[in-house]
Amino acid sequence: MELATTPEQVRAFTAGLSRAGTPLALVPTMGYLHEGHVSLMREGARRAGAVAATIFVNPTQFGPSEDLSRYPRDLEGDLRACEAAGVRLVYAPQPATVYPPGYQTYVEVEAVSRGLCGDRRPGHFRGVATVVTKLLALFRPQVALFGEKDWQQLQVIRRLARDLELGVEIVGQPTVREADGLAMSSRNAYLDAAERARATALSRGLFAARTAAAAGEARVEVLVGLIRAALAAGEVREDYVEVREPETLEPLAALRPGAPARALVAGFLGKTRLIDNLELLTP
Ligand code: PAJ
Repeated sequence: MELATTPEQVRAFTAGLSRAGTPLALVPTMGYLHEGHVSLMREGARRAGAVAATIFVNPTQFGPSEDLSRYPRDLEGDLRACEAAGVRLVYAPQPATVYPPGYQTYVEVEAVSRGLCGDRRPGHFRGVATVVTKLLALFRPQVALFGEKDWQQLQVIRRLARDLELGVEIVGQPTVREADGLAMSSRNAYLDAAERARATALSRGLFAARTAAAAGEARVEVLVGLIRAALAAGEVREDYVEVREPETLEPLAALRPGAPARALVAGFLGKTRLIDNLELLTP
């Protein structure tokens, strides 16, 4: 496995793949890798002849009062995980390499970046869209893989790939969970033992809403109420609880038979903010 820290090294790698006619799958991450990230790499290997991963804690997607400086890092452990998952090249640039002095170009995806995390984290999706566009332009992969865990992010990335005609297939992969239902996240490392036990409230609420929807409950306020009750029971402070159309992310007034819907939740345990989401199916 190769470790690259500059765009020139990445271009030398992708030029070699082009000469050999080997399709590339790209998995962008911020590191501190877990089974969720690894599932993207494995699926990348199934879909392409070579997989590259990026490890970059992207400063432009963090707000001024967010956790950029304390975001967990473990490059050595991450490189071992990438190697074990069959990754051919890891790109781990310094912030000044991605955003050198004088940098001034940003990508804004409009409607799907609004609401949900977009409202709670102003500028977040602008930072995500910018770094993902830069990585897709640098690597020019055939396929890029992202997790459904960050559902709004996935919709933002699908939109920018289409709108900018990047010619890459964006693949979404199911959320990998701990045995008790908690969605895997690098930020779970912030939780102390008591918070970790309470953190299952997010997924418990979502699964309760899914069960109720499958049993015929179509009223969004009732489904949202079930999720809120689970958050309250776990003493998780709500950031938002919403049911939306999965692709446009427009709010839904009620579930309609056969029409797709997604429940999305964000909440705080102490200073730690966690998100999760789940598909709701009507009977
Ligand atoms: P990060 O949080 O490191 O996540 C990298 C990728 O792993 C994202 O596509 C995310 O959705 C996916 N992922 C995280 N937890 C997952 C889980 N439990 N199951 C399945 N997939 C999971 O998301 C980012 O980094 C950044 O915003 C990034 C896209 C790299 C841009 O900086």
